[in-house]
Amino acid sequence: MTSNLEDQLLALQQDGVAAIAAVNTLEGLEELRINYLGKKGQLGELLRNMGKLSAEERPKIGAIANTVKEALQNSLDQQRAALESAKIQAQLEAETLDVTMPGIYHPQGRVHPLNGIIDQALDIFVGLGYTVAQGSEMETDYYNFEALNTPPDHPARDMQDTFYLPDGNLLRTHTSSVQIRYMEKEEPPIRIVAPGRVYRRDDVDATHSAVFHQIELLAVDEGLTFTDLKGTVKVFLQAMFGDLPIRFRASYFPFTEPSAEVDLQWNGRWLEVMGCGMVDPNVLKSVGYDPEIYSGFAAGFGVERFAMVLHQIDDIRRLYNSDLRFLRQF
Ligand code: DAH
Repeated sequence: MTSNLEDQLLALQQDGVAAIAAVNTLEGLEELRINYLGKKGQLGELLRNMGKLSAEERPKIGAIANTVKEALQNSLDQQRAALESAKIQAQLEAETLDVTMPGIYHPQGRVHPLNGIIDQALDIFVGLGYTVAQGSEMETDYYNFEALNTPPDHPARDMQDTFYLPDGNLLRTHTSSVQIRYMEKEEPPIRIVAPGRVYRRDDVDATHSAVFHQIELLAVDEGLTFTDLKGTVKVFLQAMFGDLPIRFRASYFPFTEPSAEVDLQWNGRWLEVMGCGMVDPNVLKSVGYDPEIYSGFAAGFGVERFAMVLHQIDDIRRLYNSDLRFLRQF
C-alpha cells in the first residue's frame, strides 16, 4: 500500500514535470496546474487515501507528497516565466519596424506654373475687392467682337486670328468676352477678375501657342478715372514682380478709349506685360449702361507671358508638355 502510493506520487511527479515542460501556451499551462495541483487535481486525489495509512507511514508519505507538490509548483513557475518572456519576445518581434527597409514612394504633386500665376493674381485682386468671374471658351461673334466695339469689318479683327466653328460660333480669342457676359447680368459697381483659356490661329513656336491663358480685369463705377486704372495696375504688378519701374504707353484696343500698353522694366529691358484702358462708351452702351453716369477701366494679360518672365522659361511649349522633370522645379 505504502510503496504503491509512493510509486504513484513519484510517477505523478515525473508525468507532471514532463507535461509542464512540453506545454507551449499559458492557457495550456493553467490547465495542467488545475489538473495536477487544483482542488480536484491528481495530487489531491492520491492524498485522499492517506487516511488509510498507518501512523508511521503517514509522515513519510506526507513528506514525499510535499516534495512532489514543490517539484510540480517549481516546474509550473519556471514554465510560466519562460512562456511569458517568449510571449513578450514574440510581440516585440511582431511590432518591430525594420527601419532599413525601402519606403513606399508617394510622389508629391506640384502646382503647375500656370495655375501658380493664376492663383497668385486672383489672390491679389480678391484682396483688392474683386470677384472672380468666368465665361465659356466657345463664344458667339457678338460677345467676342461685336459688343466689344469690334464690328465685322473692323481692322482690329486681324489682330486676333480666330478659330471659327462650323456652326458659326467661335473659340474666344480673349477673355474680354467675359466683360460683356458679366455686365449683361449685373449692375455697377463692378469689380471682376476673369481667368481663362483663349484660342488663336497662331503658328506654334517658342513664344506662340494656339491655346493660352489670359486674365481679364474690369471695374465699372461712377467716377472711375485713368488714375484708378494706373493705381490698380501698379499695385498688381508690384505684388507680382516686385517694385520695378513701369510705364504706360499709348496704344489701341477697340474696346477701350484711351488705351494703353503697360511695360515693366525687367533685367534692364522694357517688357510689354499687359493691355488696358478706359472702357469705351460703346461697350457700356452695348450692355445698357449709361456712359454719362458710369465709367470703367479694363485690362488683360497673358498668363504664359507672366510665367515665362517670372520663372525664366525659354519656350512656351514647356508649359504644356507635362514633362515631370520640368514641372518638378516649381
Ligand atoms: N483683349 C486684349 C487681347 O487679348 C487684351 C486687353 C487689352 C484686354 C486691353 C483689356 C484691355 O481688357 O482693356 O489682346
